[in-house]
Amino acid sequence: MVERETVLETRNVTMRFGGLTALHDFSIRVLRGSIVGLIGPNGAGKTTCFNVMTGFYAPTEGKVLFEGRDLTGKGPHQVCREGIARTFQNIRLFSNETVLQNVMIGCHVRTPLRWWEAPFPCSGTRKEREIREKAMTLLEEVELARLADECAASLPYGAQRRLEIARALATEPRFLLLDEPAAGMNPQETQKLMAFIRHIRDRFNLTVMLIEHDMRVVMGVCEHIWVLDYGVLIAEGAPREIQADPRVIEAYLGEEYIADA
Ligand SMILES: Nc1ncnc2c1ncn2[C@@H]1O[C@H](COP(=O)(O)OP(=O)(O)O)[C@@H](O)[C@H]1O
Ligand SMILES: [Mg+2]
Repeated sequence: MVERETVLETRNVTMRFGGLTALHDFSIRVLRGSIVGLIGPNGAGKTTCFNVMTGFYAPTEGKVLFEGRDLTGKGPHQVCREGIARTFQNIRLFSNETVLQNVMIGCHVRTPLRWWEAPFPCSGTRKEREIREKAMTLLEEVELARLADECAASLPYGAQRRLEIARALATEPRFLLLDEPAAGMNPQETQKLMAFIRHIRDRFNLTVMLIEHDMRVVMGVCEHIWVLDYGVLIAEGAPREIQADPRVIEAYLGEEYIADA
């Protein structure tokens, strides 16, 4: 088998907030084309890890490398342009804009408007029409096309999460980070989400990393999982190894989990 290349690497990343070490000496390698998971109890440092990978925080120590390039010190917009997109644990949509507008905003990362176009973002120029078409195609992918003209805030929770994914995809990422994508979803939505994550990975040639508390999702779609506890990496491996790891059971999964599995 051909060895798969590393798409993203963290090297000894530490993130401190005053006296609190949210992430300690964190080193991982994510392989291109994989769907991987980051799990652990609340406050373990998972979102902090995403914030460091996407340029929201500059790490106190260590490096983040994407496709071999050092991202350390780059801001969120630069990181996005490099090809990493994300969604947020607490959904961040432009809630007063339409569903379509939200995705079009994502498209502008790849098709920036010139300064003289900026005041008229819907002015019907060729560029705007192209962006609109691209955004509609993405909305079809996430089954939201028929709601394109609705206000984003009016969508049910699960649909808002899909819209956030569509907006992330609009930036044409190669690496997509999903922070608790199943949170607030009902069991049917969660089931669909699992197939959807695999679908977008294949359709858009992505590598996907997700943070998730729903173990059916994590164990069902991830091929490799890292486990954080108090900012420290306590385990990594395939779902079966993680489910059987005594440290993971003690710190996070709990004894009941074994009974359920
Ligand atoms: N901007 C920040 N300033 C201060 N503390 C923070 C900040 N972001 C996160 N933390 C702290 O870092 C720890 C890890 O948080 P977080 O990464 O959100 O955990 P998780 O996503 O695993 O629940 C928590 O103790 C949290 O309070
Ligand atoms: Mg979090």
